[in-house]
Amino acid sequence: MDPKRPFDEQMLRSLQGSLHLLLVTFIVGFAALILSWNKNYLSGIADEGEEPVLGAAVMTTEVTDDPTLWRPPDISTITDPQHKELVLYGRELIAHTAKYLGPKGSVMQISNGMNCQNCHLDAGTRPWGNNYGSVASTYPKWRARSGTIENIYKRVNDCLQRSLNGRPLDTLSREMQAIKAYLEFLGSNVEKGKRAEGSGLKDMPFLDRAADPERGKLVYEQKCQSCHQPDGSGLLNADGTEYIYPPLWGPNSYNDAAGLYRITHFAKFVKNNMPLGATYKNPLLTDEEAYDVAAYVNSQPRPHLPVPHDWPDISKKPIDHPFGPYADTFSERQHKYGPWKPIEEERKKLEAMASAADARSVK
Ligand code: HEC
Ligand code: HEC
Repeated sequence: MDPKRPFDEQMLRSLQGSLHLLLVTFIVGFAALILSWNKNYLSGIADEGEEPVLGAAVMTTEVTDDPTLWRPPDISTITDPQHKELVLYGRELIAHTAKYLGPKGSVMQISNGMNCQNCHLDAGTRPWGNNYGSVASTYPKWRARSGTIENIYKRVNDCLQRSLNGRPLDTLSREMQAIKAYLEFLGSNVEKGKRAEGSGLKDMPFLDRAADPERGKLVYEQKCQSCHQPDGSGLLNADGTEYIYPPLWGPNSYNDAAGLYRITHFAKFVKNNMPLGATYKNPLLTDEEAYDVAAYVNSQPRPHLPVPHDWPDISKKPIDHPFGPYADTFSERQHKYGPWKPIEEERKKLEAMASAADARSVK
């Protein structure tokens, strides 16, 4: 018996084992390298704006794995096939609204060619990307803009008529039912009455000065126009069915009754999401740049929607609502561009006086 033999075999086995391990490590490592290269490559393209890349393609995981913020439930957990189909159609309508409801829409032509997802990123699921996490838990609710209790249908049609400068969907249409099913599914992991952490838009402090369209123009030229174009009209895909880069002003943009037409809303959106690739964890604009570019974009021409019944109680108008009349004496210009701190202080005084008067009349 050769005592060396078993030893050799052992050696050989363990050598084989190590080789295996090495091979597996190599394959996994190589795959990871390819993936990360691909991601950097994509965001590299997007940064320079050379090649059309949609927001979803450069989806950054750094904002989706923050455990303190709301994440959507998983659609694959829906067991009822009909319900699942409806929810998936709803998501599709949010992500690619124009394909179905835009000027060349396959179902009907009732909107401006934008997608809901252009402003509600990742089909309304991105943390601080104006997501829908709190819709199911907080609607129906009273809204000061209409002075009524609004349900999800009304809120969806609000964005259709204002942000997509279009016409409302019939409540009973399959499209509206699908959007509602999707929004309700998204919020199904949020307690009724509560707001999901990280949903909607992230608050930002007011500047001490007015937002400045002149400075904003420079920000726009340096950091936005490569994608959104010098004339703000965005960039359509080859067959004109959907925007690669959505418009920021002009005839196909949101109208002057839309939420983004308020400078604070616009600033909050871009601060945490634009230029493409920015996130709340890694913003690419200062607060000043965000406010100034908001002022520039929102001083460009866009469709007008008359909404004479908005804000029936004028004392409830948001501070930056750009159209009078107001309960205070500040000008339309100051309401639109700021500085907002003096208006905020005045409003607090008026509210204190009103509640004191209420208290007296109760006596
Ligand atoms: C041009 C940008 C834009 C587009 C496009 C847009 N929205 Fe909105 N949407 C907003 C803004 C801004 C808000 C208000 C955010 C706030 O008040 O915090 C909002 C709010 C909402 C809300 C209420 C969210 C909440 O938490 O209360 C719903 C629901 C909604 N949008 C649905 C839609 C649907 C459906 C579409 C497509 C048909 C759409 N939106 C397209 C900008 C947009
Ligand atoms: C690299 C290209 C790129 C750059 C640069 C860029 N954006 Fe965007 N922007 C996009 C894309 C793509 C979307 C739509 C996202 C989606 O649908 O997922 C978008 C959406 C928007 C929206 C909401 C939709 C709309 O059209 O109203 C606003 C507002 C916006 N961008 C403002 C800005 C501002 C301001 C800047 C400069 C500070 C900027 N963007 C820079 C690509 C870009």
